[in-house]
Amino acid sequence: MGHDWGGTRGNATRAGLRIMLGASCVVALVCGGDGTSGARLLTMRPHERVSSQPQAQPVPTLVSEMLDRPVGVPDGDPMAMTANVGDHRVHASWTYIDGLPGLNTQIDSWLLGVLDAAAPAGTRYRPAMALNAHQPVNQEMTVSAAPVQAAGTIVVVREKVKGPGANGTGAVRSATVYADTLTGDLRSGADLLRPESVPGIQSRITGVPAGIAAPSQQEPPVTDLLLSPSGELTVTAELPGTPGRQVAMTLNAGDARAALNDYGRHVLGQLNAADGPRHATAPALRHVNCDIVPCAALTYDDGPDAQTTPQLLGILNEANAQATFFMTGSNATANPSTAKEVADAGYAIGNHTYSHGNLTKLSPPAVKKEIERTDAAILAATGTAPTMMRPPYGAADAAVQGAVGKPLMLWAVDSLDWQSKNPAVFVPKVLKEITPGAMVLMHDVQPTTISGQKELIASLQGQGYRLVSVPQLFEGTPLVPGHVYRSRPARP
Ligand code: NI
Repeated sequence: MGHDWGGTRGNATRAGLRIMLGASCVVALVCGGDGTSGARLLTMRPHERVSSQPQAQPVPTLVSEMLDRPVGVPDGDPMAMTANVGDHRVHASWTYIDGLPGLNTQIDSWLLGVLDAAAPAGTRYRPAMALNAHQPVNQEMTVSAAPVQAAGTIVVVREKVKGPGANGTGAVRSATVYADTLTGDLRSGADLLRPESVPGIQSRITGVPAGIAAPSQQEPPVTDLLLSPSGELTVTAELPGTPGRQVAMTLNAGDARAALNDYGRHVLGQLNAADGPRHATAPALRHVNCDIVPCAALTYDDGPDAQTTPQLLGILNEANAQATFFMTGSNATANPSTAKEVADAGYAIGNHTYSHGNLTKLSPPAVKKEIERTDAAILAATGTAPTMMRPPYGAADAAVQGAVGKPLMLWAVDSLDWQSKNPAVFVPKVLKEITPGAMVLMHDVQPTTISGQKELIASLQGQGYRLVSVPQLFEGTPLVPGHVYRSRPARP
């Protein structure tokens, strides 16, 4: 990543100039555990000293609610899951932001780091842990990454972990990440500050807990900094030696300006600027990490059909489910407006050959022709040629693989929907065979397949599956032309 997320920067200059943050500081205790201890802290008497700075008076305001309130981001994709990881029941919620791959990757690696750390020693987190995570476990854990500020070209995401901590005290860690929607630039909260202003802020934080927590010689990490458009800077940190309790300290605009570096002042300018560029990636291509959430890719072959395919689109749209359509060139030619409807709704489309023959019975030039005619038909109907294909009947050999010029996307679960023509048969079959990362084969030209989709989708989502497109399923793993894929490979 190249960024210092540990928040220890500035230590090198600790011996240098110490900025005295005077009477303008507002200090509040933020409780990290449940709400009850927060209420207790609110009863702190106003004359109590919370700092060694003589001018500072505590103004006990419970700021955690304000700080954690996510802001709406037009390009945001909110995600949520519950997973049983070792002894921990993890409630995770986070938001990807379209057009910011660097930010989304940072959120993913942070989240995977938290999940891996919660797993039993010697093991790693697996998406299957987020399936049917209803049974109670010992420890509750909340993990969140939410946009808390979005203005100009800046989006600020607060990443927060509330864990069980020592003796169930509820340890809290939080950090802010600053992303630029124009350049993709990614910084940590600490990057807002002049290094020499960090020790002064740290000493204010360690000075706070007099009478509430034991004094600590440890330096609190200064990683959670939230700049407001009016220039106030709120620093939130866990009290060293006191897991579960965070201090939030707000510097007024004047003191904040003195503490900010050039980047911090740039951010402040952006928080008062007109909104930056917006992104609109097709839903089937939006970022999802299937190493984190348990994913399944529903795929529908042999269409488009002018009757059944639009019915399916309605069901998918209502369920907020992504899917992939492997179309034949002949049907795309016969029903171009339906093909376009699928593409316009943002679903993924693959090449299923023109005439749906067994490719192993064709010469390589004939295979190529099947692929090219289908690409042309889908391009003519939708404006985009497919980049992946599925051979009819899954029939492929080395000659076919060499001729198609695209990755061959087969399946891990065969519904046999065309055979049973009965949702009472194929829905339980899929539910029994599904595993995280699987592609599921169905056919949108079968009316009985459409009849079973509401139940199938609701059951999968109820188990914790995220229904994704094939490109989403394989995001981050290369798809090589001529190679055969059935499911997403597990994280090594
Ligand atoms: Ni087929």
